Amino acid sequence: MHIHKFHPTKSFDSERGLREMTQAKTQIEGTFRKLWVSDTAALQAHLLRLDPESRRMRFGTPVTDYFIEHYARHALGSHSIAHGYFVDGILRGVAELRGFRGVGGGEAEAAFSVEKNLQGGGIGTELFARTVLAARNRGITRLFVNFLSQNQRMQAIAKKFDAVLTFDSDGVHGKVDTPRANAMSVFKEAVADSGNVAERVFALQSKALGSA
Ligand SMILES: CC(C)(COP(=O)(O)OP(=O)(O)OC[C@H]1O[C@@H](n2cnc3c(N)ncnc32)[C@H](O)[C@@H]1OP(=O)(O)O)[C@@H](O)C(=O)NCCC(=O)NCCS
Repeated sequence: MHIHKFHPTKSFDSERGLREMTQAKTQIEGTFRKLWVSDTAALQAHLLRLDPESRRMRFGTPVTDYFIEHYARHALGSHSIAHGYFVDGILRGVAELRGFRGVGGGEAEAAFSVEKNLQGGGIGTELFARTVLAARNRGITRLFVNFLSQNQRMQAIAKKFDAVLTFDSDGVHGKVDTPRANAMSVFKEAVADSGNVAERVFALQSKALGSA
């Protein structure tokens, strides 16, 4: 599948960021939206589709199908905020954000996965931008992302968001301090979410008209 390279916001607090976020779907052949508990089966299928190397990179170690099935069953819910990237209704990329004490404030950890044939096209960067924005709007002031030291892509993305990286024998630990939420950051997230609603209504209408 061909996807167009794009460069989402480096400074997620800028007007440019909002424009780029809302333009993302026109430059990538798919759509981004938040994930809900009802997306559990799609999340499980996505994680099971990851090739062995991506699976190892995602979980920091090789994991079995059984592990993923159990993991996905409990991943979505009020304790997390997840964003997904869909192509033709199939979940192909995910960003998960989990608070250490719920998602209502403080600190949280993020993890990302994009299926192999879509990697390198800007999807991970966009998922990261949405995750930082969602964290910020929920009072999460510090976001962590942990990854293996050979994970150049994740490292490149973390740097785009000014992450402070520390390296040890367990891998790389990225820390992003999020700015305080303001009216514009809340608006940006609302715009991103409402865009998805409009798209879904349009898709349903098209489907209904097509089958009429
Ligand atoms: C890590 C991951 C989520 C990134 O998503 P992605 O869509 O591939 O990433 P993007 O295309 O947005 O960005 C990748 C960046 O890495 C850069 N990059 C790619 N290979 C690189 C390399 N060998 N060295 C340095 N930078 C590299 C790209 O140039 C790009 O930066 P740019 O936009 O400035 O050009 C995805 O590759 C993935 O799912 N990997 C397997 C799972 C994983 O590693 N998860 C992270 C652990 S939580």
